[in-house]
Amino acid sequence: MTTAAPQDRHSALVESGVSTRVRVAVIGGGIIGLASAWQLARAGCQVTVLDPGVAGGATHAAAGMITPSSEATFGQEALLAASTASAGRWPAFAADLAADSGLPIDLRREGTLFVAADHDDEQVLARQARLLERYHRAVERLPSRAARRLEPALSPRLAGCLVIEDESAVDPRRVAHALRIAITSRGGEFRPLLARPELRDRRIVGAEPAVEPTRRSVEPVGHARPHSSHADVTVLAAGWATSGLAAHLGLRVPIRPLKGQVLRLRPAAPDVLHRIVRASVHGRFVYLVPRSDGEVVVGATSEDVGADPSVTAGAVHDLLHDAIEIVPELSEAALVESTAGLRPATPDNLPVVGPSGVDGLVVAAGHGRDGILLAPLTADAVVAHVLGLPQPEHADHFDPRRFGTQEDE
Ligand code: GLY
Repeated sequence: MTTAAPQDRHSALVESGVSTRVRVAVIGGGIIGLASAWQLARAGCQVTVLDPGVAGGATHAAAGMITPSSEATFGQEALLAASTASAGRWPAFAADLAADSGLPIDLRREGTLFVAADHDDEQVLARQARLLERYHRAVERLPSRAARRLEPALSPRLAGCLVIEDESAVDPRRVAHALRIAITSRGGEFRPLLARPELRDRRIVGAEPAVEPTRRSVEPVGHARPHSSHADVTVLAAGWATSGLAAHLGLRVPIRPLKGQVLRLRPAAPDVLHRIVRASVHGRFVYLVPRSDGEVVVGATSEDVGADPSVTAGAVHDLLHDAIEIVPELSEAALVESTAGLRPATPDNLPVVGPSGVDGLVVAAGHGRDGILLAPLTADAVVAHVLGLPQPEHADHFDPRRFGTQEDE
């Protein structure tokens, strides 16, 4: 199928007098769909977000870390560059969102301590420090006694610590709430509907009601069958479900669910932690993310088990064990929530953002562990793709067409 450049399409619409306002349907109301819809609305587009449960998936589970350095791994230079660029966008993104929504966005910028539980775990820290030094990232090695001066609640038995200053966190649920308000305040609409791209005459003309595999027909709203949302451009931002929706159109977008189980604890005393604490605990990773309301988010498993949303006893046990080993007083905290989210993971760990190969359809999905972190850069890239503007730097590795077509399989 052919793809007209978005700019050509926009110019054609304006010249024909059909529309001076690009209509965009965004399928999926997770952090990526919401951030994209908001930036599109700010750019003057008329947006409709279609999702039966806005911000109810991976966004609801996410800890909200904006931590490009501590999550960096060897061989992922493109992801590190994009993550760093997006982390740099977060302060302005948060300030604009606060202004548009009227809600404060609590971007906590205290940085990360990466700690080791034992001497083998120290090797993990040493490897991370070497990686960050290779890419000229600021990282400081501290003896654990000095780490406890920064975070007195840390266990006295830790084997080592890295300080990574330039990292932050937000509460994704609050950000999603603010995005909903900001989109609405910019004239955007929400439709609580399971939707898929609507193909007509070899191009996508909007979003139409989809049938859940478990249902025999589309759920009626009142007595009427839900109607399509017509659009000049449709953005497919449906997380791990993107793969199946794209396959309907003959597109190959390999995104699989990668389960993450996450806990929320409420310690008896406020301010147990100030910084994000990431730890290697006898070869297993755990992270602790403090919120300004006193809660501590503890995550996360990484399970390649398909679309299984269950919370398991073993995962809760392991997360609690590791969290308490690093911060012993968390044993007194109330366990207020256990959640499982399904991250949208790709084979190369890079997201899938850009023209799909079918006219009228842009994809924005596959952000894996980095949805919150990469939301600002992704939203900028989506605006550029929809309106035919230059791509932001570092988003060029996200091209959905890098996986070829279904025919190549
Ligand atoms: N970014 C943290 C996680 O996905 O668990």
